[in-house]
Amino acid sequence: MKFFLDTGSLKEIESLVPLGIIDGVTTNPSLMAKEGGDARAITKKICQVVKGPVSAEVIATDYAGMVAEGRELAKIDEHIVVKVPFTRDGVRATHTLAGEGIRVNVTLIFSATQALIAAKVGASYVSPFVGRLDDIASDGMGLIEQIVEIFDAYRFKTEILVASVRSPMHIVEAARMGAHVCTCPASVIEQCFKHPLTDIGLAKFLQDWEKSQAAKV
Ligand code: E4P
Repeated sequence: MKFFLDTGSLKEIESLVPLGIIDGVTTNPSLMAKEGGDARAITKKICQVVKGPVSAEVIATDYAGMVAEGRELAKIDEHIVVKVPFTRDGVRATHTLAGEGIRVNVTLIFSATQALIAAKVGASYVSPFVGRLDDIASDGMGLIEQIVEIFDAYRFKTEILVASVRSPMHIVEAARMGAHVCTCPASVIEQCFKHPLTDIGLAKFLQDWEKSQAAKV
């Protein structure tokens, strides 16, 4: 399973990319707004650092506006994936952009039918928001299970990008279900590096080694 970072922060991206576990980045208007500055320039820099798929979202909500903006975003860098919300206009824009060879990530997916429709029009990725479903007492990961089953049945090439991830358990479940990508905030990736038994084990190894060295003198 690929790990994407769900952020617009270059600082977070630059700190995690050297580990070799980050395959791409997803941004959205809320994340980019937090960064301030020139969104286009930041997006270009993100592409240069991550050297993998970088989702950049359109702001327009009408078909013609989404297509025009999508074409412009795609010119920023070869790694750009145009992110389009799941609406009637968004689906039509996905159909057009995908037909031109532009990769599209259909976002704000909250049902299996939305995922199926996005896949039918040639989306490269669908982004089901598991955390936001959990927030309203719905089963976020249950939706991933349904989409995996449907995409497998019809051999869609569209990748399932698990979004709105809130904890490492979402990562574990996504991987067990065979989702293609999990996009995570940096804080969730950091949580995966914490295990008390690893810390205790390492401290003991080093302590034993130091004791043996001290005994030699
Ligand atoms: C996905 O691409 C979105 O940017 C993101 O995962 C939304 O997450 P949130 O529900 O934590 O805002």
